[in-house]
Amino acid sequence: MNVSELVLERSDTIPDFPKPGIVFRDLTPVFADADAFAAVIDDLAARFSGRFDAVAGVEARGFLLAAALAYAAHKPLVAVRKGGKLPGDVLSEDYALEYGSATLEIKPGQLAAGSRVLVLDDVLATGGSCSAAARLIERAGYSVAGMGLVLELEGLGARDKLAGYDVYAIVAEPA
Ligand code: PRP
Ligand code: MG
Repeated sequence: MNVSELVLERSDTIPDFPKPGIVFRDLTPVFADADAFAAVIDDLAARFSGRFDAVAGVEARGFLLAAALAYAAHKPLVAVRKGGKLPGDVLSEDYALEYGSATLEIKPGQLAAGSRVLVLDDVLATGGSCSAAARLIERAGYSVAGMGLVLELEGLGARDKLAGYDVYAIVAEPA
């Protein structure tokens, strides 16, 4: 099986979670399968090989990918955290949720100026999280090397929001 087949084979679909009418795509079985997880990390590393100096993981699920890829590629890791978790001087970006809004934050000054940073997250839905992460990376004085995802849910507007960025998802399917 290739990496997209592995992701499709291992991932689960749960109707009516976390609330009625929502179809939840669960990637935890992909992470729980050592071969599938390794294939995911290797694929993302290969796709962006030579094009990034550091990786950024979007809390929480993006951390799983970012930590593994940073280690595999021996690159520095920057954490894009949910609001209120980082001490000291931070940059903040709000982004819209279905109801209300949320905040992501980054601590500037941890990477060399101008670093090309690869943003990693598990799922691309509306693109709000990735786009807030990209704004933080740019405000910190870095550039966005691209965005690597395991699963893209198409038709929710993410591609418009992320126009101009090199966005790669291992699997893409209609939302
Ligand atoms: C989920 C998912 C992505 C994001 C995708 O994270 O892990 O980060 O939503 O949605 P978007 O493209 O519309 O922004 P969530 O914020 O639920 O939190 P978690 O990773 O901490 O579980
Ligand atoms: Mg997330």
